Amino acid sequence: MDSQPKYKTQSANEFFYDRMTLQPPVPGTVAIGELQTDDVLVTGKDPEGNFVATSPLEATPGIIARGADRYGIYCAPCHRASGDGQGILFKRGVPTANLHDERLRAMPDGELFQAISNGVGLMPSYAYPISVEDRWAIVVYVRELQKGR
Ligand code: HEC
Repeated sequence: MDSQPKYKTQSANEFFYDRMTLQPPVPGTVAIGELQTDDVLVTGKDPEGNFVATSPLEATPGIIARGADRYGIYCAPCHRASGDGQGILFKRGVPTANLHDERLRAMPDGELFQAISNGVGLMPSYAYPISVEDRWAIVVYVRELQKGR
C-alpha cells in the first residue's frame, strides 16, 4: 500500500481514445442535488412550449437588487448600465441590442430568459456562469430598467 498506481488529473492516458485522464461526465449526468424538475423555471416555457409572459420570480426588492448586481457583472460590459447596448463590443463595431427596443420590451419574460441562457446571434450563452435563479433575477431587473427606474 505504500506505493500504488494512480493517474494525475491532467496527464496523458493510453487507455482512452482521447488520451486524457480527466474524462468529461457522461452526457446528461446530473450532479447530486442539482436535478432541476421545474420546467418553467429552467426553460422559460410553459408545458405547451410557449414562452411564459412573466418571470416565475416575483419582483421583490431583494430579487431586483440581486438582478441589478448580476446585470452589472455579466451584462453591463456590453449592454451598459443604461441598457442602451453601446458597450465594449459596440465600440468595436459589433451591433449590440438596445434593451429599450420596442421588440425587447414586448418580448415575453421567458424569451428574455432563454436569450440569456442560450445566447442569441453574437451574444454567447450565460447559462454556465449564471445560475437559473440569477438569470430570472436579471430578467426581473431588465424589466425595471426598461421602465426607466
Ligand atoms: C459580450 C457582450 C455581451 C454580453 C456580456 C451580453 N450581451 Fe446581450 N447581446 C450582445 C450582442 C452582440 C447582442 C446582439 C446579438 C445579435 O443579434 O447577433 C445581444 C443581444 C441581447 C438581447 C436581444 C436578444 C434578441 O432576441 O434579439 C438581449 C435581451 C440581451 N442581449 C440581454 C443580455 C443580458 C440580460 C445579458 C447579461 C446576462 C447580456 N445580454 C450579456 C452582447 C452581449
